[in-house]
Amino acid sequence: MILSTTADRAESLVSITTNRRLQAALRELHVFLREMIAKRRTGHGEQDLLSILMETKHEETGDPMSDVEVMEEVLGMIIGGHETSSSALTWIWYELHQNPAIQKQLFEEIDSVIGGNAITLADMPRLRYTRMVIEETLRLHPHFWFENRNVASDVELGWGAIAQGGGGCV
Ligand code: HEM
Repeated sequence: MILSTTADRAESLVSITTNRRLQAALRELHVFLREMIAKRRTGHGEQDLLSILMETKHEETGDPMSDVEVMEEVLGMIIGGHETSSSALTWIWYELHQNPAIQKQLFEEIDSVIGGNAITLADMPRLRYTRMVIEETLRLHPHFWFENRNVASDVELGWGAIAQGGGGCV
C-alpha cells in the first residue's frame, strides 16, 4: 500500500524536520483523497477518472475497489502524472518556440478541431498533428531512457541468456 508504506517508512526514520513535514503532507493528502472519494460515494460529481476507478470491478471476484485501493490508484496517478506531464509541456513550449512554422500549423489544427469549445475526448483522434508534435518532443527529450523488465520465460539474446524471472534494463 503506497500510502501506508510511505508513511510507515517516514515514521521509522529519525524525526527530523523534513520527515515530519513529509508525514504531515502525506496525512493531508490522505485526508484530501478520503474526502474526495466519500463525496463521490454520495453520488455527486462527473464521469471522470475517479468515477471509472470507483466503478471498476475485480475481474475474478466482481468486487469493486475499497476506498484505500482507490486512494492508492489516485495517488499513483498524481505521482505518475505530475512531473511527467509538466516536463513534457516544458519541452513542447521550448520546441515550439524554436520552430515557429510548426507552432503555426499546430495552432491551426487546434483552432479547426476545437475552435472556441472545451476540448473533449472525442476530439483526440482528430488532433493528429498535435499528437505528432507531442510524440516528436518526447522522442527528442525522453523522460525515461530505460525500463526495468523481467522475462516471463528463458530468453536467449545475442550477448547471453536471461533465465525466467530474471530482469534487466532495456
Ligand atoms: C508525458 C507524460 C508521461 C510520460 C512520459 C509517462 C511515462 C511513463 C512510463 C515510461 C511508465 C512506465 C511504463 C512501464 O513500466 O511499462 C509510466 C507508468 C505509469 N504512468 Fe505515466 N507517463 C506520463 C503521464 C502520465 C499521466 C498523465 C498519468 C496519470 C494520470 C500517468 C500514470 C502512470 C501510472 C499509474 C503508471 C504505472 C502503470 C503501471 O502500474 O504499470 N502517467 N508512465
